[in-house]
Amino acid sequence: MLAVFCSETDPGDPLRVLTIGDRPEPEAPDGWSTVTVRAASLNHHDLWSLRGVGLPDDRLPMILGCDAAGVDEDGNEVIVHSVISDPSWSGDETFDPKRSLLSERHQGTFAERVAVPRRNLVAKPAELSFAEAACLPTAWLTAYRMLFTRARVVPGMTILVQGATGGVATALTVLASAAGIRVWVTARAADKRQQAIELGAEQAFEPGAQLPDRVDAVMETVGKATWAHSIRSLKPGGALAVSGATTGDPSPAELTRIFFLQLSVIGSTMGTRDELERLVALMLSRGVRPTIQHTIPLADAREGFEAMAGGQLLGKIVFTHD
Ligand SMILES: NC(=O)c1ccc[n+]([C@@H]2O[C@H](COP(=O)([O-])OP(=O)(O)OC[C@H]3O[C@@H](n4cnc5c(N)ncnc54)[C@H](OP(=O)(O)O)[C@@H]3O)[C@@H](O)[C@H]2O)c1
Repeated sequence: MLAVFCSETDPGDPLRVLTIGDRPEPEAPDGWSTVTVRAASLNHHDLWSLRGVGLPDDRLPMILGCDAAGVDEDGNEVIVHSVISDPSWSGDETFDPKRSLLSERHQGTFAERVAVPRRNLVAKPAELSFAEAACLPTAWLTAYRMLFTRARVVPGMTILVQGATGGVATALTVLASAAGIRVWVTARAADKRQQAIELGAEQAFEPGAQLPDRVDAVMETVGKATWAHSIRSLKPGGALAVSGATTGDPSPAELTRIFFLQLSVIGSTMGTRDELERLVALMLSRGVRPTIQHTIPLADAREGFEAMAGGQLLGKIVFTHD
C-alpha cells in the first residue's frame, strides 16, 4: 500500500530521509482494528520523527503520521485516538509510562490503512468532514488539554498564545475564544497575525512585544524563542502551560521570576480518549472547525513537509486518498 515513511533518520536534514512508496499491509492483533484512512493530518511530530527524536533505528522502517480519520472494518466512520497505552493500563493514558503515539512504536497513519486498538476508535460525527476530523487527535486534542485540563483556564480570563499560526496554536486560539476566553497571540509575520485575529484572537502582537496588561495564562509550544516573553507576560500567580519546544530548550529558565511571582509551569502532552470525545462535542456545540491550510494527496506529502519545515503554515496540512 502507498505510505509515507522513513528507513533512516537525519537530525540535520529530515526531508532527505522522507520516503513515499510501498509498505506492507498492517496486521491487526487481537483487540485491534484495521482502519481505511480517508484523511490524515501532518504534525510537527512527523518532522521530529524524521530527525530521529523518539524514533530509534531499531524501530525502522516506520510509517509516519499520528492522526487519522477513516472507516473501520465494520463500516463505521471513526477518528483514531493516537495515544496507545499498555493493554494493562487504566485511567488517564497520557500518564502511562509505556504509552506511545502512532508512528513511535506502531506504524503510523500516513498510509492507505492503519492498525489501531479498538479502544482507540472514536465515532466521527457526520457534521465533521474526514479532513476536519483528521486534525483533531494531536494538535487540537493537545490544545484542549492544555487549556481546560492542565491550565484550567475559565471564561473571562485572558491568555497569551505564542506562535499563533501553528497547528496547536490555531487550535488554542479557536477553542479558547469559543469558550469565552480573551485570547492574545504573538506571530512572526503580519499575515499570520491577521489570520489569528480572523480565528478569534482579540489582539495579535509581534514576538516579544509589551502587552497591554499581564495575562492569566500563557500557552507555549515554541520554547526558547518565546520563553522569556511568556514568563514576563504573566500576572503574579499565573500559569504557563507548555506542550512543545519547537525552537529548543530555553536558557535561562527564568527561575527567579517563577518563584518570586509564584508562577506555575505546567507540562501537557496530548490528551485522553475521553478528552477527544469532549473536544468533538465542543466543536459541534460551538460550530468551530479546524483551520486547514492545504489538503494534499498523500502521494504529494513532501509538499506539506516542506511547508512545515519552512515555518510557512497557517493551520493544518491534511493528506487525503482521493
Ligand atoms: N506534547 C505534545 O503532546 C505535543 C502535541 C502537539 C505538538 N507538540 C509540539 O508543539 C510544537 C508545535 O507543534 P505544531 O504541530 O503546532 O507545529 P507547527 O504547526 O509546525 O507550528 C510551529 C509553530 O512554531 C512557531 N515557531 C516556529 N519557529 C519559531 C521561531 N523561531 N520563533 C517563534 N515561533 C516559532 C510558529 O509560530 P508563527 O505563528 O510565528 O509562525 C508556529 O506556531 C512542536 O514542537 C510539537 O512537537 C507537542
